[in-house]
Amino acid sequence: MGALRRHHCLIAAFVLAGLLLVQAEARGVTSAYRRRLEAAEDMPLDADVFAVPPGHNAPQQVHVTLGDQAGTAMTVSWVTVDEVGNSTVMYGRAMGRLDMAAEGTHTRYKYHNYTSGFIHHCTLTSLEHGTKYYYAMGFGHTVRTFWFTTPPKPGPDVPFRMGLIGDLGQTSDSNSTLTHYEATGGDAVLFMGDLSYADKHPLHDNNRWDTWGRFSERSVAYQPWIWVTGNHEVDYAPELGETTPFKPFSHRYPTPHRSSGSPEPYWYSVKLASAHIIILSSYSAFGKYTPQYKWLEAELKRVNRSETPWLIVASHSPWYNSYNFHYMEGEPMRVQFEQWAVDARVDLVFAGHVHAYERSHRVSNIKYNITDGRCKPVRDRRAPVYMTIGDGGNIEGLADSMTEPQPSYSAFREASFGHAVLDIKNRTHAYYAWYRNADGVKVDADTVWFTNRYYMPNHDDSR
Ligand SMILES: [Fe+2]
Repeated sequence: MGALRRHHCLIAAFVLAGLLLVQAEARGVTSAYRRRLEAAEDMPLDADVFAVPPGHNAPQQVHVTLGDQAGTAMTVSWVTVDEVGNSTVMYGRAMGRLDMAAEGTHTRYKYHNYTSGFIHHCTLTSLEHGTKYYYAMGFGHTVRTFWFTTPPKPGPDVPFRMGLIGDLGQTSDSNSTLTHYEATGGDAVLFMGDLSYADKHPLHDNNRWDTWGRFSERSVAYQPWIWVTGNHEVDYAPELGETTPFKPFSHRYPTPHRSSGSPEPYWYSVKLASAHIIILSSYSAFGKYTPQYKWLEAELKRVNRSETPWLIVASHSPWYNSYNFHYMEGEPMRVQFEQWAVDARVDLVFAGHVHAYERSHRVSNIKYNITDGRCKPVRDRRAPVYMTIGDGGNIEGLADSMTEPQPSYSAFREASFGHAVLDIKNRTHAYYAWYRNADGVKVDADTVWFTNRYYMPNHDDSR
C-alpha cells in the first residue's frame, strides 16, 4: 500500500515537473532593464549635427539608396538651397579619378507655408557589385565628395551585415542610436519607417525634414538605406490644405520600386547579397484586389531561394505586438498576409511603429475561420520570427506599457532605445543582435542564431 502511494506520488511529481517545464518553455522574457522613460525634445536647430555644410550652394542632406533591385544602380539624392545648381554626379573607383558622370533631375515642393530647397536625384547605373565608388556633386559651386560600396552580387552564401533601425527622429536619443549603429557597422540599413517626425511640429514644419536629412547624412551618404514608410510619412493634413499623402517623403526619398514591378514607391523589393527583402506599406491599401495585394501575390512567386535563401519582410506596423501602444493596429495586414508568409517560409518579419523592442518565437495564427473559433498563435517552425524595432529614439518617447501577462508568442521584450544588426553568414545561419543605447556600443542585449527556413525548415532555432 505504502509502495503504491509512493509510486503515485512519484508519478504526480513527474507530471508536475513536466507541466512546469512546458510552462517554462512557453514563458517569454519581459526585461525590466530601462533607463529613462520621459521623451526627449528634438535637438535644437543650431545643434552641430544639423550644421549646414559651408560654401555657396553646398549640397546638403546627401543620401543614397538602391537604384535598382540588386544594387548595380544607386540613386544619389541631395538638396541645394541658394540656387538650383546642377544635378550632375561625377563618380569613379578612386578619390582622384571620378571619370564617370551621370545626369540627374531636380524637384521641389510646397507644403503649406514651406517651400523646399532644390531636391536632386541622380541614378548611377551599370555599377559593379561589391565595389567602392567615390562620388561628388555640387559642380559649379561647392563640390562635396562621398563614397559608397555597392552590395555584393546576390548568391546563396554571400555574407551581409544589415542594420535594422526604426522610428529614428532627431532627438539626443536618435543621435545615440545612430552613433551606436556606426559602431556596430552594417553594410546597409533596413529602415522601418518614421524618419523625421516633422509632423510633430506646428504646421508639420518641413524644416525638420531638412534637419533630419543633415543629421542622417553621416550614415546615409555612405551606405544605402532601404526605406519603409511609416505613419509620420503620410503628412495628410487637410486643415493645412495638404491632401496628397506622402508628399514630403516622396519628393525626398526615392525607392527602386519599378525594378521589382511595383507601381508605387511604398511597396517593393530589393536583393542584398543572400537576402530577398520585401517592403510593405502599412498605409497603402492592401485588401484583396488592391495593387499592393496583387503585387505581393506575384512577388512571392518570383522569390528564388536558391539565389537568395533569406526571405525578409518589413512593414511599419507590427503584426505581433504585445505593447499597449498601437495594439492590434497591424492586425488587418496580419490577417491578410500571414498565411502567405507561412506558406512562403518567410524567415523574419521586421516592423517599427511601437517605440520599444520585441522579438517573437516562431508562431503562426492561421487556423482560424469564422466557424471553428480557433484563433490563437501557436508555435510553428514554418513561420517567421517577428521583430519590433521601433526603438530609434524619437520625440514621442518610449512605449513602456505592456500587455500582461506576456503572451506566449512573445519571446523577449524591453522598453529601451536601440537598434539591431542581422549578420547573415551563409545560406543556413544568420546571427542577430539587438543593442540598447544605454549600454556601451559593443554590448549586445539580445542575440539569436537564426536558421534558414528554406534550407533548414524543421530546425528549432527559437529561444
Ligand atoms: Fe509609427
